[in-house]
Amino acid sequence: MLEMSMRIAVFASGRGSNLLAIHDAILSGNLQGVTLELAVCDRPDAPVVEHLNNRNIQSFIFRPADFKDKNAFESAIGEKLDQAKIDLVVLAGYMRLVGPVLLEQLEGRMINLHPSLLPSFPGKDAIGQAWRAKVNETGVTVHFVDEGMDTGQIYLQQKVKVNADDTEESLSEKIHQVEHKLLPRAIQQLQQEM
Ligand code: GRF
Repeated sequence: MLEMSMRIAVFASGRGSNLLAIHDAILSGNLQGVTLELAVCDRPDAPVVEHLNNRNIQSFIFRPADFKDKNAFESAIGEKLDQAKIDLVVLAGYMRLVGPVLLEQLEGRMINLHPSLLPSFPGKDAIGQAWRAKVNETGVTVHFVDEGMDTGQIYLQQKVKVNADDTEESLSEKIHQVEHKLLPRAIQQLQQEM
């Protein structure tokens, strides 16, 4: 029987540790039946770009300012996704709201990673928001992407406890470690449901 793999693209704007965690999971066989076909980055100076080069990951790196507007750069991204026959888009630290062009092209095939237990603490600096709210539990969410900011249907969540001896930094570290496991797990689960 011919095994088909799920072809994914990962979008990142900064550090890219989650993109690397996905790539590592694929390389080590922890994430099976999935291939990372394309990385998309909207900041040529982002640290993730060097990793993409070192790992020879096929990339589309662009400057939004080089395009007329959001529709124009999303159309350019959309073409790359089509060329690479992408089944699933994973937003892993992509710091932009996705617009109508990509939402329409990828309906139900785009997920986002967010460092809180949504619907609590959507938007920027979710870890800092949770820290300042003095919650004793926060977490990580993987959700489908819609037109809102972190509002799409929740797919997977994992809780992270805030201990008395935590600092904002230690909490942040714990959350990132959970992210690096939860996101590959969500992708594997989606691949199995495909
Ligand atoms: C992660 O915390 C993710 O939840 C949020 O942005 C961060 C990206 O981190 N959306 P990295 O670039 O993958 O290291």
